[in-house]
Amino acid sequence: MPAGPPAPAPAAPVRVVVLASGSGSTLQALLDSPDRGLLWEVVAVGSDKPGVLALERAAGAGVPTFTVTPAAFADRPAWDAALAAEVARHDPGLVVLAGFMRILGAPLVEAHAGRMVNTHPALLPSFPGAHGVRDALAHGVKVTGCTVHLVDAGVDTGPILDQAAVRVLPDDDEASLHERIKAVERDLLADVVSRLARERTHRTSTNSDTPHPERTAPR
Ligand code: GRF
Repeated sequence: MPAGPPAPAPAAPVRVVVLASGSGSTLQALLDSPDRGLLWEVVAVGSDKPGVLALERAAGAGVPTFTVTPAAFADRPAWDAALAAEVARHDPGLVVLAGFMRILGAPLVEAHAGRMVNTHPALLPSFPGAHGVRDALAHGVKVTGCTVHLVDAGVDTGPILDQAAVRVLPDDDEASLHERIKAVERDLLADVVSRLARERTHRTSTNSDTPHPERTAPR
């Protein structure tokens, strides 16, 4: 039988670093995803707060963790640089902000431009910032939801990758509404991460020499 062209080598999973500040239930969706280890791998989880549940969840899944606490640094630029260095050490193809409650400095955002995503508990561009759920409720919206977007220099302003809607119920308070949003946010985030990893893998296996249209299109 004539030998055909060699089969393309399976692409390595995209290396994902997750940053989280809280309970890490959205991180957990990534840790539990059937695509983890195939399309992408969580290679490290970092936090600005020691001892948070997100770090425990990571450790429980055998994922290395790191903490970069602002209080340990003389000023904001020193913290930014330390966090950027710690993330870079893990050589990520994708950085995921899964409930990371600090604004990132330019060194980190610029180093991973187009390869850093954030999940936000409101339908951007409405209700950006740290209190998206509370602000949507206070405004009296009947439908809110969550957004996964690329991170740029602004606060929750980067290009939207995907969104899911959630109805506000008459007796909702901030906690009940946030819980229902998080239930859909977990699936949305895992989905977007897999989609990005698939695109990355496809691009590198089929088109390594030719510039991708996305990168050459006029802005
Ligand atoms: C999510 O709703 C995220 O959008 C917001 O914080 C929440 C994180 O929840 N910024 P958890 O810590 O992953 O449970």
